[in-house]
Amino acid sequence: MNDPQKAKFVSFEGIDGCGKSTLMDRLADWLKEARIPYVRVREPGGTTIGEKIRQILLDPASSDMTGRTEVLLYSASRAQLTWQVIVPALERGEWVLADRFVDATFAYQGFGRGFDPERLEMIQRWATGGLWPDKTILLDCEVALAMSRLGGREGTDRDRIELEEEAFHRKVRSGYLALARKEPERFILLDASKPLEEVVEDFRKRFWLARF
Ligand code: TMP
Repeated sequence: MNDPQKAKFVSFEGIDGCGKSTLMDRLADWLKEARIPYVRVREPGGTTIGEKIRQILLDPASSDMTGRTEVLLYSASRAQLTWQVIVPALERGEWVLADRFVDATFAYQGFGRGFDPERLEMIQRWATGGLWPDKTILLDCEVALAMSRLGGREGTDRDRIELEEEAFHRKVRSGYLALARKEPERFILLDASKPLEEVVEDFRKRFWLARF
């Protein structure tokens, strides 16, 4: 790490069911052990306003939502989270661990729905004031494996995006891989099809050796 004093902004990405939350738990544990303060947020959501937007976005009853509305609602939730939580936390010197950020919009709405990446980037830069993650952890695995993991989730029904057909999730997955190829310095790409402990170990080694 080139500046260990500076608070870092780390986002976690991947298709639904790839296992992001386990890795976020581990990083949170390591930071706690090292007595490094952090906040943990999720998208869409993470603020009172954002959680209301999340309900609209993920409700299967919102099936008539237009693609543009979807882009703008994800971006609105992100703007609220950025200015209400992320920027103040970084200014206080606290790390931020985010369950998804701008790359989710590039992968799902860009590669998945087919929206123009340049336009999406313009909207994201405006919504976040240009704030971008220092590091992005991308968990990658076959769509079929991720889907089978989702199927095994207890007590939760699939949300509107998870209910999309497999072809959509395949486009999202290859979109994420394309994003990681484009910015190899920012992304840490992990093979999430390995046994969990191996994924955590790969993450631990690559993360603490990474340059921020
Ligand atoms: P979650 O299940 O990881 O909480 O994410 C909610 C869903 O919203 C997930 O299916 C991914 C999707 N999503 C987008 O389509 N675009 C975005 O910008 C974000 C943040 C999430």
